[in-house]
Amino acid sequence: MKSKASIVITLSVLLLSFMVSSCNKNQDNVIKIGQFASLTGSEATFGISSDNGIKLAVEEINSSGGVLGKQIQLVTEDNQGKPNETQTVVQKLINRDKVIGIIGEVASSRSKAAAPLCQQNKIPMISQASTNPEVTAIGDYIFRVCFIDPFQATVMSKFALNSMKVKKVALLIDQRNAYSTGLADNFRKTFVEMGGEIVEEQKYSSGDKDFKAQLTAIKYKNPEAIFVPGYYTDVGLIAIQLREIGMTVPLFGGDGWESDKLTEGKAKDALEGCFFSTHISAEDPNPIIQNFIKKYRDKYKIEPDAYSFLGYDAMMLMADAIKRAGTTDGEKVKLELAKTKDFKGVTGNITINDQRNAIKPAVVLEIKGGKFKYKETIAP
Ligand code: PHE
Repeated sequence: MKSKASIVITLSVLLLSFMVSSCNKNQDNVIKIGQFASLTGSEATFGISSDNGIKLAVEEINSSGGVLGKQIQLVTEDNQGKPNETQTVVQKLINRDKVIGIIGEVASSRSKAAAPLCQQNKIPMISQASTNPEVTAIGDYIFRVCFIDPFQATVMSKFALNSMKVKKVALLIDQRNAYSTGLADNFRKTFVEMGGEIVEEQKYSSGDKDFKAQLTAIKYKNPEAIFVPGYYTDVGLIAIQLREIGMTVPLFGGDGWESDKLTEGKAKDALEGCFFSTHISAEDPNPIIQNFIKKYRDKYKIEPDAYSFLGYDAMMLMADAIKRAGTTDGEKVKLELAKTKDFKGVTGNITINDQRNAIKPAVVLEIKGGKFKYKETIAP
């Protein structure tokens, strides 16, 4: 006669094998897309905004029947805003979770850390917002749904000369950040070509708390404006300290400024009348944009920023390319991504060029009363 214990063991083995097999079945029924994002850490707003946009896209794709008859399963990993951690989590997404495509990241430095891994493993990667040109140059599996920094630099050079009417500009650069140094290099080149003059250049490192030495050196050269191609995490403090040393000239910058945290506290007044370029304006009356804002608000009870829009578009484009390929095979999906033409995104129509970049307009926003007000759109 069987003992009670052996019956229990037999039953548990049966149950376990049932669970494993049904789990495998579920695996066959889903398409796994990985995401790496700065969900915690100093730049968490970038990761969270984008993650919200991506989740909204996944929800819509799945509720309208999924892709190739399967549901999308999003596997998200937090890189805490660190390049090293990015490599660890992207390895995990590829080797352990076996994702067939990857979305990420907002920040160029982290996209650059992940791209070689995606390229080696033939996993198509779409960056939602990394604007540094080197990101997609890493290989033919690496794409983006945003413009690149040489264009952003041209936009801000034109804007400075024609709209701000300034000719003498100083640069304040985050020296260890690929986005910041790259955007500064591009700006220096285009601004001077267009007839502007760079009267001073100073450097800092992200996370610094005291910018007075650099700002004082800048003040001494009397610029009419200061270009700060940095992240919102530092720009607020820079502005506050600039006003403390008695300078009233405007600051201007790029899409790294885009966060509602930019104008918190004293930064609100310090940044009044300053400008930055970015991907989208929430004031744009285009119904596609307003409809997205409404859906986002309904779901999250907060306002989207540019990274929410771009995250949504990156996910939608990935799903569309898989559909067009008719398979999840990386090689075929990347070929379809490369062929993308006039894809209807919420950030505008996306056409991927032969460098795997999206050709799109940029907008310039002005900070007024702590809010971002639409100034102008500059076409590519
Ligand atoms: N386009 C910027 C980049 O490529 C976006 C960004 C700016 C992300 C600042 C994070 C911080 O890095």
